[in-house]
Amino acid sequence: MNAVLSAGDRVQLTDTKGRHHTITLADGAFFHSHKGSISHDDLIGASEGIVTTSSGGMPYLVLRPILEDYVLSMGRGAAIIYPKDAFAIVGHAGIGPGDFVVEAGAGSGALTCFLLTAVGPQGRVASFEVREDFAEIARSNVVRWFGQEPPVWQLTVGDLAGAEGPAGSADAVVLDMLAPWDCVDAAARLLRPGGRLIAYVATTTQLSRLAESLRADSRWTEPRATESLVRTWHLEGLAVRPDHRMIGHTAFLLVCRRMADGFSPPQRRRRPAPGAYGPDYVGPRPPGVAEVPADVEGSAGEDQSGDH
Ligand SMILES: C[S@@+](CC[C@H](N)C(=O)[O-])C[C@H]1O[C@@H](n2cnc3c(N)ncnc32)[C@H](O)[C@@H]1O
Repeated sequence: MNAVLSAGDRVQLTDTKGRHHTITLADGAFFHSHKGSISHDDLIGASEGIVTTSSGGMPYLVLRPILEDYVLSMGRGAAIIYPKDAFAIVGHAGIGPGDFVVEAGAGSGALTCFLLTAVGPQGRVASFEVREDFAEIARSNVVRWFGQEPPVWQLTVGDLAGAEGPAGSADAVVLDMLAPWDCVDAAARLLRPGGRLIAYVATTTQLSRLAESLRADSRWTEPRATESLVRTWHLEGLAVRPDHRMIGHTAFLLVCRRMADGFSPPQRRRRPAPGAYGPDYVGPRPPGVAEVPADVEGSAGEDQSGDH
């Protein structure tokens, strides 16, 4: 991309307090703040990376926003996936140029923008969103970022669980919703063998229920859960330390891969952790882990197969 700014470009002005203001350059327009104004005409034809001063004497750093900046400032309906998690989703799900990715729900379209960027013009993203109002917000955010509706993007207002589409065609399915276990069957149908399922879930109860649903379903490799904590740092001379504040928790990511039809993952050869599937456990059970009567002490929930 050319460093020279043109009319129609989105530009982020950052003041000396680190506050961002995003404007779209237009001939003859002005940016106004309590520190005076800046003429867009002074920026059109200038380079990114300059400092411009408002009529009131405030210096502003001039840069085009990157996608991370954009998603944090764009309008929202549903809560967005934070950039740190979007980066991890793309990486853990191995999403790259040319991939076909299915996601639900589209929500505000934040993850959609990252997915479309990762798959590129040779790839494809199919997004599902049950709520029409959220789908419209997602559409407008995607169109604003890409300047048009990307030809490789298809947004469907509807439930992924009932999605039709060529079976075994998706390289990755990304779920960001309250009840992702309701979409396991649809994901299994859409994914090709070796395709990746990745879910973004906010709570440990969701994480457990989804992991056990996948194990019980037997069409998936062993699920792996991660969480990313990003700490920003104060960097000043000898005062180099973590910042006092951080976004402590957003969500967990769970990743697994679609087995080929007719194959199940090898059964784990280790005992479940004590109490993991004990009398209080009411969720789906992995193959080989039998229900244990409440009065059986000590062995509650242990692998009954003798396979260890
Ligand atoms: C947290 S939001 C998604 C945010 C989005 N990933 C983003 O980054 O902007 C969850 C969305 O999933 C939608 N949803 C829930 N279940 C769904 C399903 N089965 N199929 C499609 N969308 C669903 C909800 O309406 C909601 O908008």
